[in-house]
Parts: sequence; C-alpha cells; structure tokens
Amino acid sequence: MRGPRESERNRGAPMVTATGNSGASGPGSEGTPALLPSAATGRYGGPSVDLDLLQTLRSTGAARQFHPEPVGDDVLARMLDTARFAPSGGNRQGWRVIVVKDPATRVALRDLYLRGWYEYLAMGSAGLVPWAPVTDRAAEAAAIANAGPFADAGAAAPGFAETLETAPALLLVLADLTALAAVDRDLPRYTFAGGASIYPFVWSLLLAARTEGLGGVMTTMPVRQEDEVRALFGIPATVAVAALVVVGRPTAVPRRLRRAPVHSFAWVDRFEGAALAGP
Ligand SMILES: Cc1cc2nc3c(=O)[nH]c(=O)nc-3n(C[C@H](O)[C@H](O)[C@H](O)COP(=O)(O)O)c2cc1C
Repeated sequence: MRGPRESERNRGAPMVTATGNSGASGPGSEGTPALLPSAATGRYGGPSVDLDLLQTLRSTGAARQFHPEPVGDDVLARMLDTARFAPSGGNRQGWRVIVVKDPATRVALRDLYLRGWYEYLAMGSAGLVPWAPVTDRAAEAAAIANAGPFADAGAAAPGFAETLETAPALLLVLADLTALAAVDRDLPRYTFAGGASIYPFVWSLLLAARTEGLGGVMTTMPVRQEDEVRALFGIPATVAVAALVVVGRPTAVPRRLRRAPVHSFAWVDRFEGAALAGP
C-alpha cells in the first residue's frame, strides 16, 4: 500500500517496508511484530511509509496509547484524501468529518464518551455483549443502573477513555442520513446496512494513518449520547454521529491480532453448513 505522494516517501527518513522491517511473515501468520516505523526510521508527520497491503490488513490493530505530539492538518488531510476513495452505496459519499481541536470541546466530548464507556464496562461485567441488538434487555438495564462513575471523570483510573481529550487527533465522523442507501431500513429488525456506506471510509482512514507512521482506533461510544454530541458541534438532525476516530503516533508497534479462523465463520451453501476449506 503506497502513500499518496511519491515525493513524500522519498523525503527524509528511509522508507519502512513490511519485508524490510518486520522479518518473515507469510500468509499463515496473524500479524507482524514491527510494521510501524521505529523511532529511528519513522517520523511523525514524516515521509509516507510504504506498506505491504496484505501485511497491513493483517496487522492494523487498535492503538490507544500515543506519543503526545499532535497530528498536523496536512497529515490529516492526506489521510482523508486517501479515505475518500472508500466505497459507499450509490457512491453517495455521505461521510462528513469534524476535526476536534478546541480544548473545551475535547473535554466535553470525553465526558460524553465516558458515560457510554462506564455503561459498556458494567454490561461487560454482567456477562453481556454491550448493546447487542439481540440481548436480554432487563439484564442490560440492571447492569446500566449500576454503571459508574458518570459525572466525576477525575475519580476514575485514567485510561484511554478518561484521557481522551489529550489524544493527538480526534476526528468525529458523521453520516448524512439523506445520502445513505439503507436497504434494510424497513425491515422489522435492527438496521445496519446504512453504516456500510460510512465504516469502510473509517477503516480506510485507519489504514491511511499507517502510511503516515500513525495508528489509532475507531470508537462508536459517542453515538450513545448522540443528541448531546449534535448540540456540542451544531450537527443537524439529518446527520448522524457514526464514529470518533482517534489517531496519533502509537507508543507500541502492532502486536499479533487475535481473530477467529475462517472455518469458524464461513460455510458453503448453508448457514452453519460445511466449513469453507482454507487456512
Ligand atoms: C464498530 C466499532 C466500534 C468500536 N468502538 C470502540 C470504542 O468505543 N472504544 C474503543 O476503545 N475501541 C472501540 N473499538 C475498537 C475495538 O475494540 C477493536 O477493534 C477490537 O477490540 C479489536 O482490537 P484489535 O484490532 O487491537 O485486536 C471499536 C471497533 C469497531 C469496529
């Protein structure tokens, strides 16, 4: 996978390639130990990193701890310039992005995030899959009733959520609801097809971050407080909150990702039929 500009890759520090930097890692391995540039070879905001597509797809995990330097607008613009080539239903490109810079707004967004986060933790502790469309709603309500702390962010052990406002870059990704081909809109079940026109863009954004020597994570937690997020950013009612993408220069290199094997979720001809042969 190549960064957007040939000239960028040739400027300054040496390129990092999957084969040149990570050691042997064939199709059977789940990730590579060192695809992000090391401190010596990769520079924040520096030359785009030349990455192997397969290895990048297999090793782009969530990064939640970052070196403190901000991500420049030029870097964010390059990432967005790549992500905009993501597919969307009817090529409507309904994504919208707000780069969150204002310190007070960042703190307010963190507090909104934390509310969902503590609910998430409480549901997980109760053995639930948080907010699963098909779930035990009574058990969920009971778990949420015990969630906390909500109001006093400072009282919690500071982790990714509690320090969200310090993240190098925060990109709020929105969805223009007038532009989504939500083909399951009228079904009597939970609908999700509309998101398929937005989340490939988000994933491309995270992949594009890697070409910049950066990493990050997609979070949907602010969606839980959508009305308040809308108010905070002046977002109209016809636009939904889809994700908050957090990006920066990770403090750690990608680790081996844990994912279920193909035969556990892919079948031939029938749901839970014969497993597709493969790795
Ligand atoms: C739709 C979606 C929502 C997510 N929401 C959050 C979130 O709110 N907070 C968070 O820290 N990570 C979030 N994540 C990141 C997941 O936790 C992460 O992708 C998963 O645990 C796999 O991690 P790994 O790639 O590092 O193995 C989200 C990921 C997706 C795809």
